[in-house]
Amino acid sequence: MGKVIAVVGTQFGDEGKGAVVDVLSEKADLVARATGGNNAGHTVCVGDEVFKFHLLPSGIVRKGKLNVCGNGMVIDPKVIIKEIEGIEKRGYEVNANNLVISSSAHVITEEQIKKDKAMGKEIGTTERGIGPCYMDKVGRTGLRMSEFVKRDSKEAKRLRPLIKDTYVVVNEAIEQDKNILIEGAQGTMLDIDHGTYPYVTSSNPTTGGMCAGLGIGVNKINSIIGIIKAYTTRVGRGHFPTEQGTDEQTLNEKKDDSLTEQEISKANKGDAYCVGKVLRKRGVEYGTTTGRARRTGWFDAVIARYARRINGLTSMVITKLDCFSDFKKIKICTAYEIDGKKTRDFPTEMEKVEKAEPVYEELDGWKCDISKLTKYEELPENAKKYIKRMEELSGVKACIVSVGPKRKQTIILDEQELF
Ligand code: GDP
Ligand code: IMO
Ligand code: MG
Repeated sequence: MGKVIAVVGTQFGDEGKGAVVDVLSEKADLVARATGGNNAGHTVCVGDEVFKFHLLPSGIVRKGKLNVCGNGMVIDPKVIIKEIEGIEKRGYEVNANNLVISSSAHVITEEQIKKDKAMGKEIGTTERGIGPCYMDKVGRTGLRMSEFVKRDSKEAKRLRPLIKDTYVVVNEAIEQDKNILIEGAQGTMLDIDHGTYPYVTSSNPTTGGMCAGLGIGVNKINSIIGIIKAYTTRVGRGHFPTEQGTDEQTLNEKKDDSLTEQEISKANKGDAYCVGKVLRKRGVEYGTTTGRARRTGWFDAVIARYARRINGLTSMVITKLDCFSDFKKIKICTAYEIDGKKTRDFPTEMEKVEKAEPVYEELDGWKCDISKLTKYEELPENAKKYIKRMEELSGVKACIVSVGPKRKQTIILDEQELF
């Protein structure tokens, strides 16, 4: 029996979706992106080679997989062509046998990019034209791929052979019992409906958006795997209850600025900026798309619970557990206190989120390198306790724990959830 697995971001994006999709795609026949555009940046490490994908599904690095860009996506023709050429130069073949693009995906125009550059500063968008393109789509004035490729241009000619009714391709694959992997972009907290509005993207990166963005029935998805970073990060502006250090401090920090022993010691004494810096440096938290430093903070179980409900998660993958090795104590946010009242449900009113004081629980760290471990049993007891607590608080079991960016650095806990 074939299976349909959705990989969805549960936080503010950059949870490590690309790396997880790369691992799972080994047994997939078809890998599909359903929403978003080149605001996404997905990192895939194959041996010593590093790939950063913005529009191409991460399955493109494996032979014999069909990759689909679904109707819910917004595509900048120049960017996807550059990405195709980039990977071809590295020895990978790309043609209609391994890449198809939906004829109803919307096309990002120069005009929309200009508009985003002019309007996007307040939100801190990626300035790739995403918002204006979705605005034109919803306003019913957008340009679809089917029309774009009829034009007499170099880009239109290049993309023409790849354009298909992708809903047919995906549904036929499901009917033929193939293994389908849906690669989420962005994250639940950036969702236009469920995220921290208006500091969100312009699509629904949550599970519901995936069905609409591919043209498949909601009952076709068998496993919904939420990707959860062991801590939290956010690029761009917007609410972030568990942030350590301020937005300004993060932006003032230089990328090549190294982490000192003194800062690690200060982080262990509770200095918020140093906690944030340790996470940023250990996790190499710099935007895959724009290179901006990512804001960092402790794991937020209120968000994890919210993401479990909004997406209907059946399991989760915990990524970046290896980035905690400097910490004597690790904090987890279990609830928010808002106007003197405790809540474990994420408020949809942003004024309440602004007032939210995280309620923390402190767990013991493990103070050692776990990035070379391959089995759950080998993990230090305190790391196991941290995983268990993440599971209890979010209400969903982990099927994989990732301890580094490479394929090998993946500890599988539950095969049942996978292909
Ligand atoms: P995505 O947008 O969700 O695909 O994530 P990004 O690729 O933007 O950012 C995740 C970053 O973390 C990338 O640089 C990955 O190579 C890296 N990464 C993924 N999983 C792990 C992990 O378990 N440990 C460490 N240290 N890095 C990881
Ligand atoms: P992946 O798929 C992290 C953020 C931007 C900005 C907001 C709106 O790599 O997880 P947009 O350009 O979409 O209008 O910007 O959303 N953002 C992301 N942050 N990861 C992403 O994608 C993101 N895509 C958009 O930084 O705050
Ligand atoms: Mg990313």
